[in-house]
Amino acid sequence: MIAGTSCEGAPRLEILADAGALARRAATLVINHTPARADSIYVFPTGKTPLGLYRELVATHRRVGFGFGGVRFFALDEYAGIARDDPRRLGRWLWQVLLEPMGVPRAHVVGFDPGAPDPDLACARVDARIAARGGIDLLVLGLGENGHLGFNEPGTRFDAPSRLVELTPETRATNAAYWDDRVDVPATAYTLGPRTLLAARRVLLLVSGKRKAAILDRTLNGPIDLAVPATMLRLHPGLTVLADTDATPPPPEPRALGQNDS
Ligand code: PGA
Repeated sequence: MIAGTSCEGAPRLEILADAGALARRAATLVINHTPARADSIYVFPTGKTPLGLYRELVATHRRVGFGFGGVRFFALDEYAGIARDDPRRLGRWLWQVLLEPMGVPRAHVVGFDPGAPDPDLACARVDARIAARGGIDLLVLGLGENGHLGFNEPGTRFDAPSRLVELTPETRATNAAYWDDRVDVPATAYTLGPRTLLAARRVLLLVSGKRKAAILDRTLNGPIDLAVPATMLRLHPGLTVLADTDATPPPPEPRALGQNDS
């Protein structure tokens, strides 16, 4: 199924019945892709949307021994200004739900240092390390309700490098749901930038739930615009969007021919 009307090339859109079907389809795509480049770089997100995918991957690992071999996992983003052992670390989250259960060696995981003394230098090093390995091979993303990708918030230039950013109030509010109510969401964070993300070979955008329907519609059918960072993905030739029916409003009814239509 193809959606999107821009001349930049329509992304491949697959609509799945529900979140479970989306997770299974995403797992199939990740597993089928994996033998292709054993020493390549993968970037996977945290958030609620990918949790079903991660459960499927871990179950497949336990059932038939599927593993990531020599794949290197680079962090998509990370809160800044927190301790390395802070329970809010996004790198720790991904480690716990996916990487450790999959048997990925710690040496294959590269995160942002949340307390890096020189953030610009630290981010430039991450971009350089990814570029030196030929770029991201497989990039999996969730879609923020404000259209952000990673922590590339509205207004981000599409050629921005990886960097330290300020989180918007909306992102801090939605991220608060990940944690205990008493826990503050940091005001700043590191994120891979569009320059590195758009150079990925294959991109999988996962979108689930009614709360994402409006932003998915803008992402696929609105103007390509810095105000909705996810629209930058329409510039990418290797984009697949997996969305469940809740996130994809039904197409408008065909207009009935009336007396004035001759
Ligand atoms: P979610 O987050 O998967 O928890 O909805 C997506 C995002 O904000 O990038």
